[in-house]
Amino acid sequence: MHKFSLPLNSRVAKGKTWPAEKGATNVRKFHIYRWDPDTTDLPRMDTYEVDMDKCGPMLLHALVKIKDEIDPTLTFRRSCREGICGSCSMNINGSNTLACTQNLSDLAPGDVTINPLPHMEVIKDLVPDLTHFYAQYESIKPWLQTQSAAPPDKERLQSPEDRKKLDGLYECILCACCSTSCPSYWWNGERYLGPAILLQAQRWLLDSRDEATGERLDDLDDPYRLFRCDTILNCTRVCPKGLNPAKAIVDIKKQLLERQI
Ligand code: SF4
Ligand code: SF4
Ligand code: FES
Repeated sequence: MHKFSLPLNSRVAKGKTWPAEKGATNVRKFHIYRWDPDTTDLPRMDTYEVDMDKCGPMLLHALVKIKDEIDPTLTFRRSCREGICGSCSMNINGSNTLACTQNLSDLAPGDVTINPLPHMEVIKDLVPDLTHFYAQYESIKPWLQTQSAAPPDKERLQSPEDRKKLDGLYECILCACCSTSCPSYWWNGERYLGPAILLQAQRWLLDSRDEATGERLDDLDDPYRLFRCDTILNCTRVCPKGLNPAKAIVDIKKQLLERQI
C-alpha cells in the first residue's frame, strides 16, 4: 500500500483516456486516480469521457456507469447509495464528500477530478485503508457501559430531553470525510483520534444511560488523543451529514475543564 496525498505529486503519472462512445454530444470528462497493488506501476490519472445524456444525476451514477460500461477494473466502495453507509467517501474536485449524495450539477461546470480520501493508505484506486480509523473507533468503546443492573422488565429508558442531546451526534455515518480533511489528523493520525472519532466519543459522553463518563473523559485527557485539534474547522466544513465535529471537540474540552473546577 502507499499513502495518497493532496496536492498530487509528480509520482502520479498521466494515464489513459477512454473516449466517449460515438455520437455522444453531451460529454463530461472524469479524471480518476488509479493504482493497482498487483503491478509495480506508478499511480496514474485516467480520463473517462462519459455521455451525460445517458448518465444519472449523481457522481456515483457516473462511477457505476464507467465501471459497468467502460472499464470494469475501476475500484471504489459503495453500498447504500443513500448517504447512510458512509462507504463511498472520496475526494471530489478537492473536497471530501460522498459520491452518492454529490449531485453532478452542484459541481463547478467542466471536468471532474476524483481522488481517494487524502493522507490514507490506498488499497486500490479509490479505496482507502480504514483499519487504523476503525481501531481508533473501537478504542473509545462505542457502546453503552453500565455498572447498575438493568431493569428486569424493560429497557434502560431515556427521557425525550436526554435523547435530544444526542441529536447532531448519532447521525454520524463514520465516512471519515472529516478526519481525512483535518491537517492535524494528517500529521498526527497515529495518535490523534481526529474529528470523526471524537464526535463519536461525545455521543457516548452525552448518553444519559451510560455510567462510564469519568473513565471516558480520563481516556480522552491526553495531549495527542484530544488536544491535537487546532480548531481549523475543515472537519465541520466538509461533513456531508451537516454535523459539527469541531463543536463536539470543544464540548469535550469544556467537560474536562469543568470537572477540574
Ligand atoms: S477543528 Fe480540529 S478536528 Fe476539525 S479540522 Fe480542525 S484541527 Fe481537525
Ligand atoms: S462527522 Fe460527518 S464527516 Fe465525520 S465521519 Fe461523521 S458523518 Fe462523516
Ligand atoms: S453508498 Fe452509502 S453513503 Fe454513499
